Amino acid sequence: MIFCGYSIIFYMSVKFGSLCGLLKMRFCFKLPTQAILQEENMSDAGNTPLHIDLRRHLREQDENRDLIRLICEIAEASKYIINAINTGDLGMAGTSNLYGEEQLALDVLSDRIITKRLMYSGVVACIASEERDDIMDVDAKNDQKYSVAFDPLDGSSLVDVNLAVGTIVSIYQGGNLLQPGRNQVAALYILYGPRTTLVYSTGKGVHEFGMNSLMEYTLNAENIRMNDGKAKVYSPGGQRSQYSAGTEKFVQYLEENGAKLRYSGGFVPDFNQVLIKRSGLFMYPHLKSAPDGKLRLLYELNPMAFLIEQAGGAASNGLKSILDIQPEEIDDRAPVFIGSRDAIAMAERCIGELG
Ligand code: AHG
Ligand code: MN
Ligand code: MN
Repeated sequence: MIFCGYSIIFYMSVKFGSLCGLLKMRFCFKLPTQAILQEENMSDAGNTPLHIDLRRHLREQDENRDLIRLICEIAEASKYIINAINTGDLGMAGTSNLYGEEQLALDVLSDRIITKRLMYSGVVACIASEERDDIMDVDAKNDQKYSVAFDPLDGSSLVDVNLAVGTIVSIYQGGNLLQPGRNQVAALYILYGPRTTLVYSTGKGVHEFGMNSLMEYTLNAENIRMNDGKAKVYSPGGQRSQYSAGTEKFVQYLEENGAKLRYSGGFVPDFNQVLIKRSGLFMYPHLKSAPDGKLRLLYELNPMAFLIEQAGGAASNGLKSILDIQPEEIDDRAPVFIGSRDAIAMAERCIGELG
């Protein structure tokens, strides 16, 4: 009898449930956008567990107010860089940078967009940019403020062929930028691809944000961790004929172990693929023609090395961690192998043995 009563209640609640489901579906057919907005609560970005915005995430990590301000200023600047990429002049600026590379109008513009915001943020001690010859002293003696080294538009020569590019940022406390990357208090990059994403770490894990339709960065993934095991993809920069015997052996090892070639020519998207897929590596090794490789320690390598170590991966110049290199000058370069821990250890073995 009792069993029979329960069965009736169960039957009725199933029926009621499916009726609600049906009504919901009808509602969705009638007003799809509104229904989706209600479902995902997108109108309330920043206030729902699924849509934590960047500022709120930083606050919840208990970060210093000025560091939050600084990171949010950079996030704001990226919106203007997106506009510059989408609509700006693709020609040359008519000037060259510290490395003798001709600057594109977009390099110069992106640099100005970020530099200006940093200068007037009230929280910055020094600024160094890949596109400027010298460190800018804003308030260098103030230990409470932050110094920032950045590459405003990495891969800018890929914009005319419509491939992905990025902004890379390294942050230290105080006025000294010539210190090992391990001392960074934060690092981040912004990837301008089919979608815009921002990946940051303040030393408490690595977190990915996506730009939504309101141009807010909202949380995509928290505490990204690299998987253990073999690297699934590899992105090798530089010409193979210029590789050392050690790098050549490492490439053969990768191929024999099933790693697939994935190289776009942009450090940020290539690195991002490795991090977001949680497996693989990017490398721009020492070349016969360029013993220090191509990429720049302060502006490109240190921030990415900080992020990958925070995600449980590794970054090496072939001999030691990128983060333990003491920079001598702001324009120092270094070879780099960055990604899955086991693969980077293997690279170090090959380079240690054969150079
Ligand atoms: P940048 O555009 O800031 O000068 O640097 C581009 C970098 C990086 O994104 C990429 O991995 C590497 O240069 C590619 O170098 P080459 O194709 O010139 O060897
Ligand atoms: Mn660059
Ligand atoms: Mn650049």
